[in-house]
Amino acid sequence: GTYARIAGTGGYLPEKVLTNADLERMVDTSDEWIRTRTGIRKRHIAADGETTADLAEQAARRALEAAALDPRGLDLIVLATTTPDRVFPSTACQLQRRLGAAGCPAFDVQAVCTGFVYALAVAEKFVRTGSARNALVVGAETFSRILDWHDRSTCVLFGDGAGAVVLVADSAPGILSTHLHADGRYEELLWVPAGVSTNYAAVREGRAYVEMRGRDVFKVAVRTLGRIVDETLEANGLTKADVDWLIPHQANHRIIEATARKLDLPMERVVVTVDEHANTSAASVPLALDVAVRDGRIRRGDLLLMEAFGGGFTWGSALVRY
Ligand code: ACO
Repeated sequence: GTYARIAGTGGYLPEKVLTNADLERMVDTSDEWIRTRTGIRKRHIAADGETTADLAEQAARRALEAAALDPRGLDLIVLATTTPDRVFPSTACQLQRRLGAAGCPAFDVQAVCTGFVYALAVAEKFVRTGSARNALVVGAETFSRILDWHDRSTCVLFGDGAGAVVLVADSAPGILSTHLHADGRYEELLWVPAGVSTNYAAVREGRAYVEMRGRDVFKVAVRTLGRIVDETLEANGLTKADVDWLIPHQANHRIIEATARKLDLPMERVVVTVDEHANTSAASVPLALDVAVRDGRIRRGDLLLMEAFGGGFTWGSALVRY
């Protein structure tokens, strides 16, 4: 059969860094509180005028270079974001134009922090079924634009960035399986309760921001990620011992550690970037993957378990033979 294999990865972070010390001067918080509760030490923030498409383009170019693929040969672009540049056209179409890849299908996927795993699962179907010989999959966010910088309970948690992978059809694995879920009943635990078609006044007045019940999100996230890890291994007839690397969504080091414990995986086998990137939503998994591929930790042949959880609620996983 045909698999979708990851041929190259890329990542990009805006230059501007915001440390916990910087945040101490903006809201009533402390480096100590942020580090012990979340593991975050700093985050990157897009400059004025720097957009999601800008970050996506840099990450995409790096992934294409790593895969040695000319963007003009792309068959598909899927981009996950919660913070698109515009209402429309999609950020994927903007990216396609910048890459000079006109003609192939290009669209955005919205599943908040699970966005990249959703986008990867969609692109994988195109490649597996022969609808595309290759695909560019991107997670890109400027989450800083939807944060209330006066709300200490949310503004310390997030950062901006982009990550990308290039998938190619191959007779050898490849993505082994993907698992996607959603439960819309939890929407008000983590949301921006305004948009174009509802409560637009909040958008106009500049008060459409992320709102979160952190402790409740934490509990559901830990429980749900434990379940999806089991589901993923069972579906492939594999055991915990087969997993070489856990590449989790980077929201909080305590959630990451709970998932690693569930897998009996030592933290040396878990890719952690939350300390330096904070939570970059849809960009967090591909950014973490790219970091560990480029520093040589992840090698060809390794078995990777990616997982994510986010607003919706949405959650998902991908098991990948790298
Ligand atoms: N600095 C100092 N104090 C703060 C801050 C801050 N930045 N933020 C909140 N506090 C205070 C609260 O006001 C509260 O004070 P009180 O006890 O006097 O009322 C106290 O700290 C404890 O607040 P909790 O919310 O109970 O703290 P908790 O230990 O649950 O940690 C956190 C909060 C870090 C948000 C945690 O619940 C969490 O990580 N939840 C998961 C949410 C998440 O990761 N969301 C991201 C999107 S979803 C995802 O990606 C998984």
